[in-house]
Amino acid sequence: MIKASNIHRSYGDLHVLKGVDIEVKKGEVVSIVGASGAGKTTLLQILGTLEKPDEGSVYINDNKIDGLNDKVLSAFRNKHIGFVFQFHHLLPEFNALENVCIPGFIAKRPKAEVETEAKRLLAFLGLKDREHHKPSQLSGGEQQRVAVARALINNPDVILADEPSGNLDSTTAKELHDLFFKLREEFNQTFIIVTHNEDLAKMADRELTMVDGKIV
Ligand SMILES: Nc1ncnc2c1ncn2[C@@H]1O[C@H](COP(=O)(O)OP(=O)(O)OP(=O)(O)O)[C@@H](O)[C@H]1O
Ligand SMILES: [Mg+2]
Repeated sequence: MIKASNIHRSYGDLHVLKGVDIEVKKGEVVSIVGASGAGKTTLLQILGTLEKPDEGSVYINDNKIDGLNDKVLSAFRNKHIGFVFQFHHLLPEFNALENVCIPGFIAKRPKAEVETEAKRLLAFLGLKDREHHKPSQLSGGEQQRVAVARALINNPDVILADEPSGNLDSTTAKELHDLFFKLREEFNQTFIIVTHNEDLAKMADRELTMVDGKIV
């Protein structure tokens, strides 16, 4: 599903990624752990086409993504990659249903189809009665589940999550983690999850550790 080899990335003099190789199969849940500053977010952003590597190549579902221009990349990202961040980044003026629909509308899918799918996902995630709530009217765990539904709306090849439960209490975090595995079971969804949460890291099929810009 994802294959990246010999990824290097520097910010000025700072050599952040020093030759990372990673391969993830369809339906796999892989966790990435490591100290603050090890390069986890940088790697995830490169895998998610939000950042470009200085060296190395990234394939997503057999598409070589380096060398593509920004316009092609953003269309590719919209269709193939779902993101879940530590802070949900939901749009405050839109309700849950609208937030989930937005990536579908950006992909120019038919409105009715996107809305039906968004409602199905929200119901699956236990948010049937929260469709019309704005983010400020949702709990932290509910906001994160809306963000997960939004990440899923275009049926992405992979979901990249960066400390998805970093902002949640332990019970709510556990519910979110269980949800990831339920999504894998139901939809064979692939996940790469950067986390400082040991329980989540251990639940994954594989736990990768980053030290100083490399996976060890
Ligand atoms: N845009 C940038 N410009 C300059 N330096 C950056 C930039 N982004 C990240 N860095 C530096 O790169 C290093 C790796 O950052 P990164 O965010 O990938 O770490 P991380 O492993 O995700 O850490 P954390 O666990 O704290 O989130 C850090 O030392 C950081 O200061
Ligand atoms: Mg980070």
